[in-house]
Amino acid sequence: MNYSAANSDLAALRAPCLGTSLAVAKRLAKATGNTATLNRAITDFKDQIGESLTVNLDGPVARVVIMGGAEECGPTQYRKLATLLAQKLAAMNIAQAAVHLLSTKIKSHNTAWKAQALMQALSHASYRFNHYKSKPKQPVALKRVRLLAGQADQKALRAAIKLGNALDAGLALAKDLGNEPSNVCTPTYLLGQARKIARSKDVSLTALDEKKMLSLGMGAFMSVSQGSDQPGKMIILRYNGGKKADAPIALVGKGITFDTGGISLKPPPAMDEMKFDMCGAAAVLGVTKAAIDAQLPINLVTVVAAAENMPSGRATRPGDIVTSASGQTIEILNTDAEGRLVLCDALTHVQTYKPKAIIDVATLTGACIMALGSHASGLFANDDELADAITAAGETSGDRSWRLPLWDEYQASLNTNFADMANVGGGGAGSVTAACFLSRFVKGQKWAHMDIAGSSFHKGGAKGSSGRPVAQLFAYLVAQSGLN
Ligand code: BES
Ligand code: MN
Ligand code: ZN
Repeated sequence: MNYSAANSDLAALRAPCLGTSLAVAKRLAKATGNTATLNRAITDFKDQIGESLTVNLDGPVARVVIMGGAEECGPTQYRKLATLLAQKLAAMNIAQAAVHLLSTKIKSHNTAWKAQALMQALSHASYRFNHYKSKPKQPVALKRVRLLAGQADQKALRAAIKLGNALDAGLALAKDLGNEPSNVCTPTYLLGQARKIARSKDVSLTALDEKKMLSLGMGAFMSVSQGSDQPGKMIILRYNGGKKADAPIALVGKGITFDTGGISLKPPPAMDEMKFDMCGAAAVLGVTKAAIDAQLPINLVTVVAAAENMPSGRATRPGDIVTSASGQTIEILNTDAEGRLVLCDALTHVQTYKPKAIIDVATLTGACIMALGSHASGLFANDDELADAITAAGETSGDRSWRLPLWDEYQASLNTNFADMANVGGGGAGSVTAACFLSRFVKGQKWAHMDIAGSSFHKGGAKGSSGRPVAQLFAYLVAQSGLN
């Protein structure tokens, strides 16, 4: 999708379709001699959130989609209205549309926020993954959307649109990577995708192959990767958009391109969904692309821990003990708790870049789905300020997380007689004990962990990657840039 800013002069507007409020539709009708047509059409229209009405007009605006309740509402209602409009526009056979909805009054939410909400809704509604369909069922014709605002709002709108276009590209990348099947999206494929991102200005890439990882002592990562014929990769992207001396923000993604469970094999039902086990990697790559496209004035280091978790004659057995890059030893009691094993070595490695904050993103535990379902990503942090900033970015973007505890009391569940720790905790709170495991590999740094097992993909009829938490992380990076 391509977003652009335009002036809200209704008399001069030409568009195949305009999405707007009832009040603006009436003004448009008056300006274009359509008052009688409009009045006939709206006799039964309820001007409420959730209602909408499409009216064909004569003149330079061929039709108008009237959104109920768009005069004044709350932020949640505005998102609802934006989603409804986006679905309508995406279902029409038009290549471009205009949207005049930035004058809605929402307490303490400005033009930039409204523009962001509209663009995000449009990006989601217009996304399709049709790479493997001989005859795509519902292709989307919509390619361009102009957002209309008054003169005074143009500057803010143009800044928001730059961010909106960048986020659109980042979301699409994250969803595409998530939706690709595991016979295509391998660790090597993820490396190729990172290489594409690295072609941009101010970006560099380092890839660690298995030989290099062995030499760095990454025994935890290798214990996962060794069972697969696909070589594992540790991918490091650096974006330097900020000042040279600024410490980078570090993003770390779990990139298990398929999770069979390993020797602790998963049961067959829904095992196909384990192609989404690289959605953390997809999210950090997506938001990195968005940050680069938006030219955010920050430094980033993005690490993807990419491996396939397979059973084989070379696979790790339950009870095997490995040494992580940190030097700590791990008894692998369950080979299906593999995410934390690849992540702990990635966390150790990323700290060599002296980041000012580390955020890892992972489809880490089924327990997180039990706790939070799909509406919230799980959030853990060893620093309240970092947790609050990520939570706030969730509210801004509507892509939300909920914080869970990282209390010391939970750490003991990782004790074992045979190594420094086990890779699974006993006694419930599986998401918390997984986060506790990760916390042991972060030394004196601000760190947050996001468990996106429930939020990163849809199940059932709408099965597919959600692109989460790209929007949330992007809002966090924008806030860190001092742009909002
Ligand atoms: N990738 C899974 C977690 C997952 C489950 C993500 C469902 C998305 C949907 C992870 O590697 C895993 O298998 N976790 C185990 C941990 C357990 C063995 C301690 C789990 O949640 O069952
Ligand atoms: Mn697993
Ligand atoms: Zn997994």
